Amino acid sequence: MCPSKNDQIFISYSEADEGFKIRLVDILGKNGFKNVWDYKAKIRGGEYVWGRISEAIKESEYFIAILSTSYVASKATRDELERAYYKKTAEGGITIIPVLCGRCDIPPLVEHISHIDFVKNGLREGYKELLASLGRHLEEKTLRQEIPGVLIRAYFDKILTSLEIKRELQINIYHDKEIDQKFLYWDVEAARRWGNLCASPAYELHHISKQILFRHMLDIYNRIAEDSGRKAFDFVNLGVGSGEKDKYILAILTEKAAPSVVRYYPIDLSFPMLQETTKYLGGLLEQNIEVNCVVGDILKLHRYNSILRESNNPKLVAFLGGSLGNFREDDILNEIHKFMDPNDYLILGVECTVGRGDDQLAEEYIGEELKDLVFGPLEQYVDTTEASKARDTFHCEVKQHGNVPNSKTIFMRCRFRGSPITLAFSTKYDKASLMQYLVDRRFSILQHFSGANDQCAKIVLKKA
Ligand SMILES: C[S@@+](CC[C@H](N)C(=O)[O-])C[C@H]1O[C@@H](n2cnc3c(N)ncnc32)[C@H](O)[C@@H]1O
Repeated sequence: MCPSKNDQIFISYSEADEGFKIRLVDILGKNGFKNVWDYKAKIRGGEYVWGRISEAIKESEYFIAILSTSYVASKATRDELERAYYKKTAEGGITIIPVLCGRCDIPPLVEHISHIDFVKNGLREGYKELLASLGRHLEEKTLRQEIPGVLIRAYFDKILTSLEIKRELQINIYHDKEIDQKFLYWDVEAARRWGNLCASPAYELHHISKQILFRHMLDIYNRIAEDSGRKAFDFVNLGVGSGEKDKYILAILTEKAAPSVVRYYPIDLSFPMLQETTKYLGGLLEQNIEVNCVVGDILKLHRYNSILRESNNPKLVAFLGGSLGNFREDDILNEIHKFMDPNDYLILGVECTVGRGDDQLAEEYIGEELKDLVFGPLEQYVDTTEASKARDTFHCEVKQHGNVPNSKTIFMRCRFRGSPITLAFSTKYDKASLMQYLVDRRFSILQHFSGANDQCAKIVLKKA
């Protein structure tokens, strides 16, 4: 399974290596990778325009750094590498491929990333390795052991290695950056802690959120079936968690589609979480369901388009559990918008402020199970004594964050190694402002469903 050959590749190189670059671009082009960005080709007159370069890095999927002594010595190329690294760690990803075209000290930022050594292995081997590395980011495996008799295809996005995740976490900690919620659910321990939190009666919001789906899934189905004139849908769930919500949704989709097959695409960063989900769904999967798990990042949804199987059915995409608030709304909604066809539907699960003040909102985030979830990654990856000290200094801060007017984000702050760090956050929306925001983001609202006290809602959308 190859990534799209249309993905943009940014070539970062020093003028002194122009000859090497020209040959490389030629080889890439001959192998189908034609969408290559290098400033000589893209910026007329060779004028160095940082704004355009920075924008190009932002839009690229791959960043090839042609390393040499001139590369390491040049501020311009070091800036490009830093920009790419920032995108990789803070903005949701770019695959950095260091290519060694001359002996030099490897820049510390990419020391931990395996590089392609043209000096040691020669040109022929170097190109072979580079092309393999570009085509190797989604690996397909078949999992049979999870549920006996059920074929589960799993696609692994190779850029999410635990080594890189660990390093990203450490960098975020040391630079006092907000620690992305993906660290909370990453490994087996984390999946267990999430399960414990969901089972705890104290995590009331989760139970309310499940109830809404349980009560209204049939209404949601009827609404989209009526709107589309179709009865079978493929189901894509973004950020599955332990799979409880998938169960309600799949039960209705399979019953209504029978005897047609429902294609189910659970997508999650955490493979253990996907294992939990598939185990939890158990016998249900023996019915007319075809499972294609994707171990991948929602912020790179477009990478997984190639996994979707030929189908005449519209997709039902779900993004539940108040998840919107845990991401950069603009980025995630853009990705979802690009991923959806005009006939597809989206169910968004969101949490609402409903007149609660900051103190009340913060109050909901002080439970012990929640602390376990939040501190788990710290305890796992960094000095545990320090992490438990941090636990004692834990407090919540509530403020407006992101672009949705009148929203409130809960940040969890503590001191770690003497510095403040921001561990995780959740956003609550003012419902009317959120609806307007979704319309501004080119979605049209079909219907919305709320729980008894209006704290949680499920919004059913289409592309406008
Ligand atoms: C708060 S749980 C919600 C689970 C489920 N949607 C629910 O409503 O119960 C968040 C889930 O999203 C996954 N997740 C977080 N960030 C992600 C990302 N960037 N890409 C893919 N999955 C992500 C986590 O691994 C976790 O399983």
